[in-house]
Amino acid sequence: MNGKYKAFWLHDNETLEVIDQRVLPFEKKTVILKSSDDCIEAIKNMTIRGAGVIGNIAAFGVYFAAKESGGYDEVFEKKAKLIKKSRPTAVNLMWAVDKMVQVAQKTTKDNIVKRLKKEAISISDEDCIRSKKIANYGADIFENIMKKKQKTSINVLTHCNAGWLAIVDDGSALAPIYEAKRRGIDIHVWVDETRPRNQGANLTAWELEQSNIKHTVIVDNVGGHLMQNDQVDVCITGADRVASNGDSANKIGTYLKALAAYDNNIPFYIALPTSTFDLGIKNGLHDIPIEIRDENEVRFINNTQIIPTNSPVLNVGFDVTPAKLITALITEKGVCKANFQSIKELFDD
Ligand code: MRU
Repeated sequence: MNGKYKAFWLHDNETLEVIDQRVLPFEKKTVILKSSDDCIEAIKNMTIRGAGVIGNIAAFGVYFAAKESGGYDEVFEKKAKLIKKSRPTAVNLMWAVDKMVQVAQKTTKDNIVKRLKKEAISISDEDCIRSKKIANYGADIFENIMKKKQKTSINVLTHCNAGWLAIVDDGSALAPIYEAKRRGIDIHVWVDETRPRNQGANLTAWELEQSNIKHTVIVDNVGGHLMQNDQVDVCITGADRVASNGDSANKIGTYLKALAAYDNNIPFYIALPTSTFDLGIKNGLHDIPIEIRDENEVRFINNTQIIPTNSPVLNVGFDVTPAKLITALITEKGVCKANFQSIKELFDD
């Protein structure tokens, strides 16, 4: 993983050890998952998070469910359904559960546990391959931007965390950044703090620091100002679900960055493995389910209340960036326009 790092490990004793992302960067703690319920809980309480890793842990959850039920039966089906419902927006979760269930349906009772273990491992192995390809396509784009602007360095802005903690092996949005570093490109990353869970400040900054990549953390409202002052060459984010028309759901606040980028003529890319497409959704703005989270994530910072007790709070987890604001989608199958035809062609190959 990224040379040195891993978001989770499957042990020989069949337990899954995951990095507890809730306490990074100040505490390095892991949590052991032993059952489908443990996997559901880890997804719900965000011990693990990020579209890809949510899908990976969901897949291992289905494998645990097979061990618990001993085969494809009502109990197994019920557990798989519960895993699928653990978070609503990142479609990698539903994609991984469906894939596992389809394999289970085709497997005999005797083989099911062994077969599902293999499938869960192969889902994360495939993510590694996808991530490497995204890294290369994205780094090529960075090089072209530098060439066009006749610059010897590049300033990239990203939102939330789409690195190796979110998708094995190098992430999605951070994969081209890691690759740029490997290519010797002089790269600097503006890291949006990403309130309220601070995935940018806590996780992306930590990842970049570990890899010696130049970066600066900014609060979520700074990006527009930097773009107006020529301090951002390109924006790149991950995605949690992309509709067949190119509308892309990502962590709350992504849309506003895309608007600012559009206004300042700065390219805005979304990097994603194809498992993040939901081709069944034709209009992402209307139909992508958006997670509404606990208001206390906003009301408190580090256990300190910052909002008057009687003031209502709305904690929206994701927003949808309309396709028209997206320069292109960077996937393992190549780079495509964020529109129905280009996305279809990606899958026609
Ligand atoms: O709520 P989270 O932390 O699970 O949010 C998902 C994300 O990590 C981001 O939206 C990310 O940019 C896309 S996931 C690779």
